[in-house]
Parts: sequence; structure tokens; C-alpha cells
Amino acid sequence: MAKINYLRYIDEKLNFEGAETGLFANSALISQNQLADYTVPCFKFAKALRKSPVQIADILVKCFDGDTTFESVTVVNGYLNFKVNKANFVKDVLSDVLSAEHYGSSKFGEGKTICLDYSSINIAKPFHIGHLSTTVIGAALARVYKYLGYEVVSINHLGDWGTQFGKLISAFKRWGNKELIEQGGVREMLKIYVRFHNEAEKDESMNDEARAYFKKIEDGCQEELELFHWFKDLTLKEVGVIYDRLNIEFDSYDGESFFNDKMDVIIDELEDKGLMTVSQGAKVVDLTDYNMPPCLIVKADGATLYATRDLAAAEYRKNTYNFEKCLYVVAYQQNLHFQQIFKVMELMKKDYANKVEHVAFGMVSLENVGSLSTRHGNVVFLEDVLDKCQEKASEIINAKSPDLENKEEVARMVGTGAVVFSALINSRIKDIVFSYDKVLSFEGESAPYMQYTYARANSVMNKAGEGSEFTVPPTLVENEFELVKAIAQLPDSLMNLIEKNEPSFLTRQLLEIAKLYNKFYFECRIIGEEENVKNFRLALTKATKKVLKDGLALLGIEVPEKM
Ligand code: ARG
Repeated sequence: MAKINYLRYIDEKLNFEGAETGLFANSALISQNQLADYTVPCFKFAKALRKSPVQIADILVKCFDGDTTFESVTVVNGYLNFKVNKANFVKDVLSDVLSAEHYGSSKFGEGKTICLDYSSINIAKPFHIGHLSTTVIGAALARVYKYLGYEVVSINHLGDWGTQFGKLISAFKRWGNKELIEQGGVREMLKIYVRFHNEAEKDESMNDEARAYFKKIEDGCQEELELFHWFKDLTLKEVGVIYDRLNIEFDSYDGESFFNDKMDVIIDELEDKGLMTVSQGAKVVDLTDYNMPPCLIVKADGATLYATRDLAAAEYRKNTYNFEKCLYVVAYQQNLHFQQIFKVMELMKKDYANKVEHVAFGMVSLENVGSLSTRHGNVVFLEDVLDKCQEKASEIINAKSPDLENKEEVARMVGTGAVVFSALINSRIKDIVFSYDKVLSFEGESAPYMQYTYARANSVMNKAGEGSEFTVPPTLVENEFELVKAIAQLPDSLMNLIEKNEPSFLTRQLLEIAKLYNKFYFECRIIGEEENVKNFRLALTKATKKVLKDGLALLGIEVPEKM
């Protein structure tokens, strides 16, 4: 068992003079340079300590006088540089990884609850490629928070309210066929919905009819309400299949309609607190002072809005789950919406106003496909993307390893993994152009590359055996050391991940580990080496396998034992 966690060790030593350095979470890095294995940039503390980085570094370095944990601690231009004793470090880290149940997991978040609003699909609308990011980023965050000891509530805030349901009912009454919809699900609903739109463009009265139908749902008329629930059940059944494929579960499907009877209190409170103003018959919260358009709360016709329901939802979540943080994994197109409702919460002096956060992400488009619009029926279903990726994975595997057992199972893991990985490899705010060739490439930054590396490590273990107790050989090469450093960084990448709600921190770290392992695999012989070198390299292989498997599982990617 490792005696120390190096980062925490530095952190604790540096927490002096009442300065909250908080290094452990985000300051020290294992740099990939020759000067240091860990480095602490002292400019980070300049403000708190009211001293220059150079002065701070000169003071801090004295904390390590006579300390034999590090080979050297030196100061260079306001940076504190640590060089570890390589053999000790490697031994500590590997022992730690091999003895841990799940390396990097902790009780850090014990007793705290995170509400995670993600995927949040719309009823009777396609689960399309645009929902990929919210779904897999949200699920990855949920897993990582749990791994770090938090209680997580996964919420699918369904879009199950609004005039579009009036349109759908109107369309169904005109051209709908019960059996067809029962079988074809959302695709069939979409067909009549699109037809409705096209025809309503010529005949405006159809929209009035749709509004009247929606009013009937609101008023609880039986026939309309039954249709609405039927659409909803069919949609949920359909998306359930995709969630199963992605291994995702929600704790709550309380969507927009759930909040219908929970908005009055919010509206009253806004009135009581003097925050509501009337503008052209509508009730709004004026946000001019904050350079934002007004937040619309109640329309002139009395209808409530998306924002009203979100305000009610936040209040409900606070009362029900008492969250430490409530995260909304939603595309950046909704930036303004979240800025507005968060500002309204602040103006209402809600104690949770600083605990809500919009985790925004970029758009996904498909290579060689034009712009996508549900209303025109021009959409790419996520299900089709998953199927196609799986088919292509199957072709590749058939060509590469025709004798592999359970090829279909491997193709499933590879195909699904490729789609998931594509949404987690780059910082979430970047737009993604999805390309089948790219996500399925065995060489690039892809799931198959990671899975192949895992299977490679596994095959090494199968050929060479488990190996016995290891010691660090005197021949330790630079690449082995770098691989261990990358593994040692994993727990910190998880801490950084939750700080920024950025899953790519983990994905990148795992990719780095995989690259270094492959380099090691080609440069360092295992079988045929003398016993202590072989045992050490097997321990390194085993550690790599373990962190890849656990890390990829956090992202929602499975690994095959053979590939
Ligand atoms: N259903 C919405 C959409 O597809 C996303 C809902 C996000 N969550 C929320 N609480 N507003 O755009």
C-alpha cells in the first residue's frame, strides 16, 4: 500500500500561513518536462498572500527542508519544482493501483447530493443525434460523481408540455392510424406532425384547432389526455431501448408537465417579492439591469412557459433532494435561458441560486448531411447512428480478426463505444462533426483504439501469466516512468473533472495512458526478460488494464477481453 499521495502531501505541507491553497484539486500538475515531475505555480497564491510569486516560492521551498520524500525541490521563476525519487514513486503508485478496489474512487463527496438534469428528451419528438452529448456527458458526470462518493439524482426533465401536443392530436385525428403509430412509434408521429406543419402553412385555421386541442389537454378532457399519455408512453418505451444500449438509468422522469401544479407558488412569490412587472399583458421579470431581455413568466393568455416550469423544478429539487449542486447538461443554444432563470433565482434570494449551473455543450452535426430540423422531418435518429456504427464495427472486426469468438458482442461494444467516445473526447463546448470513419478508426483518438489497447494488455497477461510480487528494477526506463506518472494523474483528473464538469479531462487522461502503454509495449520486452523485470512489467500491464477498464466504464464504454 502506498504510504503517500504525492499531491496531497505537497498540498498539506503548503497549507500554512492560513493560506487556502487548495492545490489538491487543481494546482499541481505532473508536468511532462525535464525540470519537474510536479510543479506548483506560485502566482496562484500571489493575491491571497500579497507577495510576488518569486517571494512565495522562496518561502514555500523552505517547507521541504530536510524532506526526503522528494529527490529535489527547487525554485525556478516563481515555480516550485518537485522531482520524485523514481523508484519510490513507481512503487508507491503501482502498489496503490493494484491494491485499490477502484483506483481514484473516494468518499470525497460523502453526504452531498448532486442533481443532474440531462438527456431531457422531448415527447413525440425523435431522439436524434443532437441529444447524444447531453445524454453521454450527463451519464459520465453521474458516474464520476458517484465514484467520488456523491449521491447523484439523474433527472430526465421531459419536454412533455406545450402546444405541439395540440398539433399532434389534431394531426392524429386527421390522418393518424393507431396500429401504425403503435408499431412505428416516434417515426410515425413525426410523419403526421410534419404533414401538419406543411398543411398548416397554407391553412392558418389548423393552428387554432391545435391550440384548442392543447387547451383540452390542459383542462383534463379525457380523450385528449389519453392520447397525450399514449404518445408519451410510446416515446418513453422507445428511448428506453436506447438508454439500455448506453447503459443509462434515470432516477426521475419528472418533466415539464409534472410542474403544472407547482408553478403558482413561484408566481405568487415573484409577485410578493415585487419582482413581477406586466408588459403587454404578459407577466415578466425585468432583467434590463443585467443586460438581458425580460424573463417571461406568464403569457398574456395565461399560459406558463418553459422558464416558469424550470423555476418550479429548481424549487422542487431543492426541497426534495436538498442538492449541493444542480447541474443542467443542455446545449449552449440555451445559454440565455439559463442565465435568465438563474438571475431570477438570485433576485428571489433563493439559497440555491449559486448552486445551479448550466453545463453547456456544442452542436453535433453529421459529416455530409445538411442542417437538421425536426419540423421538416430532416433528422438523424441516434438509434440509426448506433446501428450503423455497430454494423461498420462488425465489418472491420470480421476483416481484422475473423476467428474472434463472440464477434457480435465485440462489435456491439466497439460500435456503441465509438459513438459515446466521440462526444467525450473534446472539451464539451466544441461543436462536433460526426464522422463514422473517424470514430471507428483503430489508430486515432477513438474508442476502438482504447479498447484495442485494453485487449492488448489483456493478451499480454494471458500469454505471460499473472507474475508475482514486483520490485522496481534498476533498469527502469523513461517510458515506464512516464506511464506510471500518467496513471498517477488519474485521480487528479477526476477531481478536475468535477470542478469543471468536463468529462474530456478523464477521456484525455485515459488516452494518454493508452498511448504510453502502446509505446511501452513496442519498446519493452516482457516475455523472455529476467524474472524481476518481467514481474515489474506485468504489474505495470495489470495496472494499466485496471485503470483503463474502470476509467472507460466511467465514460460509459465497455471493453472486450479479446479483440
Ligand atoms: N427538453 C429540452 C430540450 O430538448 C431540454 C430540457 C433541459 N432541462 C431543463 N431543465 N430545462 O431542449
